[in-house]
Amino acid sequence: MSRMVEVKDVSKSFDGTLAVNAVNLVLNRGEFLTIVGPSGCGKTTLLRMIAGFEVPSAGEIRINNDRVESIPPYRRSIGMVFQKLALFPHMTAAQNVAYPLKMRRFEPAQIPSLVDKYLQLVQLGDYAGRYPHELSGGQQQRVAIARALSFSPDLLLLDEPLSALDKKLREEMQLEFRRIQQELGVTTINVTHDQREALVMSDRIAVMNEGVVQQDGTPVDMYRNPENRFVANFIGMTSLFEGTVCATGDGVVSVKSGNVLLQARSNDKVLPVNTRVDCAIRAEQIRIVEDASVYDNSVFGTIEHRIFEGDRIVYTVHVEDLGGARLHLFDHDPVSHKEYPANERVRLGWNARDLFAFQAPQSN
Ligand SMILES: Nc1ncnc2c1ncn2[C@@H]1O[C@H](COP(=O)(O)OP(=O)(O)OP(=O)(O)O)[C@@H](O)[C@H]1O
Ligand SMILES: [Mg+2]
Repeated sequence: MSRMVEVKDVSKSFDGTLAVNAVNLVLNRGEFLTIVGPSGCGKTTLLRMIAGFEVPSAGEIRINNDRVESIPPYRRSIGMVFQKLALFPHMTAAQNVAYPLKMRRFEPAQIPSLVDKYLQLVQLGDYAGRYPHELSGGQQQRVAIARALSFSPDLLLLDEPLSALDKKLREEMQLEFRRIQQELGVTTINVTHDQREALVMSDRIAVMNEGVVQQDGTPVDMYRNPENRFVANFIGMTSLFEGTVCATGDGVVSVKSGNVLLQARSNDKVLPVNTRVDCAIRAEQIRIVEDASVYDNSVFGTIEHRIFEGDRIVYTVHVEDLGGARLHLFDHDPVSHKEYPANERVRLGWNARDLFAFQAPQSN
């Protein structure tokens, strides 16, 4: 596979504050990468450097093997959809899509058919004559996507283009986007703080926090094998509590947390006895059980609250024995299963392979 984007040891500081810290990323042609992370972690700054709008304080960025800052903006083959919508309000949908073609001096005779092709692709063939204020939010975003794609860029950069849309439309647009990206085979970097969007759309995900890429991998791998507490907590509904290693084995450790001894997986890391660890468990791996004998781990707790979400119930259980930890769990069959009211004592069970133990960061 040929390499399309290479980000090497890239940092960016604004007035002494490090917004992006020594980031490395490689993207192959045709891949869809999502950069996901909380607000302020440096996603837009990284994207703007890749686009060539912002110069790194250190490191280098190559697109198709060329240093991006050496290519003048009008020659960069990059389509971009911004965090804040930037359609030209005084131009129709068709004029907006034609704009980059005119700027790049496409043959005028070619332009109408290209505009038509890309408006059709985003299913707005009948809306060519509408102005932005005559389109819904989702339709405006689709025009912005058509405009970013109309000149067949090598690289498409998307900065949270769906974040302003309501949940249902956003989820439809995620699938729509993915379809268009695969149909065109265009290399894409998408930025979002929505973990679901990252999991649904991407070939690869990079999770960022405080300017640093915490982990980079396929959606399935990120979900199954988070490398640290931040990634485990950011992807999925995860409960966290602290503990200390009291015995260590092959990929499995015994952890003492509160008054309980638990079996956990250490993700191939060697965690010596007495290591302070952060334990993480996903809501779908914990069961309310009568008989805990089939599970590696079991604790008693008190239902604190439950949230009915239609297709599932989310319980929060207070576990005094785990130092007062609160564990979240799902019941995916709220129709036929018993519902547990608040304050009921329950027994929880889960397996060692589903409890991650990460070395806790050193505190000074
Ligand atoms: N031009 C600038 N001057 C000074 N500080 C900046 C500038 N641009 C960004 N920052 C700072 O850099 C950090 C990263 O900002 P950035 O916009 O990249 O975050 P983000 O991950 O895109 O956040 P969001 O999800 O809210 O869009 C923030 O602390 C921000 O205040
Ligand atoms: Mg941003």
